[in-house]
Order: sequence, then C-alpha cells, then structure tokens
Amino acid sequence: MDRRVFIKACSTLAVASLVDASIFSQTLANTKGTLKRYTKALLVKEDGSPLREEDIKPHTQYIFFYPYASTPCYLINLDREIKPVELKLKDGGSYTWQGGAGKKRSLVAYSAICPHQLSHPTKDYSFINYYPPDKPSETTKKGGIIQCCAHVSLFDPAEGGKVLDGPAEFPLAAILLETEGDKIYAVGTVGVDQFTQFFENFKQDLIQQYGSLANAKKMVESCTVVEIKRYTKEVIHC
Ligand code: FES
Repeated sequence: MDRRVFIKACSTLAVASLVDASIFSQTLANTKGTLKRYTKALLVKEDGSPLREEDIKPHTQYIFFYPYASTPCYLINLDREIKPVELKLKDGGSYTWQGGAGKKRSLVAYSAICPHQLSHPTKDYSFINYYPPDKPSETTKKGGIIQCCAHVSLFDPAEGGKVLDGPAEFPLAAILLETEGDKIYAVGTVGVDQFTQFFENFKQDLIQQYGSLANAKKMVESCTVVEIKRYTKEVIHC
C-alpha cells in the first residue's frame, strides 16, 4: 500500500445486538448514561427489502451506516448464542452489553470507528476488520476478533467489543438492534461512541464525500447492509 495512503488511513482512521424490550430495560438500568437512543432505522438489503436474520451469513463482515449517514458499523453473525456481559471502563465506570440478538442470539453489531485514533472503513480501504475463527490474523494469530491494523488494537465481538490488546482505551461502541417479526432495526448505541470526534477530525473528508457536514450528520431512517468487500476497494488484513 502507498505510504501516503497508509499514513492518511492511520490518521483518518467498531455490530449491533438485537434486543427485546425487557432486556433493553435491564440494560438501560445498568449502563449509567452509556446507552443512547437514536432514530429507529430498518436494516435493508441492497434491493431495499428488509434484511432478515437468514440473510446474514455466519462470520461474514457486513457494513451499514448508523445512526448518522456517515458513521460506519459492522454487523456479524457469530453463529452461536452470545450472552450479555458487563464491561468495565478504565475510569472505574461500567455498563452492561446485552449480548447477541435475533432468534439464535448470535447477531452482534458495533461502530466500526476505532476508539483509539478513529480508523474506520472508507470506500478505498478498511484497516479495521473482523477475522473469523478459521481465518486468524497473521500478526496476532487470533481469530473471532475485530482487529485494527492501524496500531493493532484487538476487540472481542462476543464480549461487547471489549479491548483484548493494543492501545485502544475503550471498547467498541455497540449498536442496539431490535427485532419486530422478521424485521431488524437499529435503535441506539451502548458504550463510548466516537461520533463527535469523528465529525471534527474528518470534517473536510465528509464535506467532500457528502456535500456538506449537515448531510454527513443526517440521522438515517433505514440502513442498507452490504458485505464489506462490496463497499471498500481494499480490505486490509494484518
Ligand atoms: S486507530 Fe490505532 S488501533 Fe485503531
């Protein structure tokens, strides 16, 4: 990769869980201000029809944008029941992540903005990616993780985005999803999101891509979900 691109990637550079109402209420009580409700947005396929759980292939990295038009998220089917966990923050705070969603409770989703220095997938490249269990990272030899190659931070998608290694100080922010029948909605975030800093740091890039910062900050009402390889030219593994 071109060094300038790499440096830009490093300088410019997190799946949701589907929850039912009762778990949502429990989570709300435990998150101490880390849960934020945003616009309820339907997850859809490229043809505009609602995304169903059966459409989400196991251990495949899907991208969508939520809660804003420009803020990327990853959706992953971990193919097993994922239980709720409590995450502890370095300042002593903590919050409960509600675990996997869907009928099998295997679906998780996170903001794809790295909490270290905001590495995130763009149309040109993605430094932060999911590594399935059978395709581990060459650098860390770990699979079943989300890893950011900018400075090698590792996150556990089965544990609420917990930091496993590297310089990141916060877990990935989780995206809350709810199901209604076969439909899947993104409804909010849990954890420490990076949206304010993201808009500040990448203002010029976002204006270029979306026409204005206001457009980049538009709250979405539906999210088109695609495999990462259909969105970005280069999925960079390390
Ligand atoms: S931006 Fe530094 S590890 Fe992700």
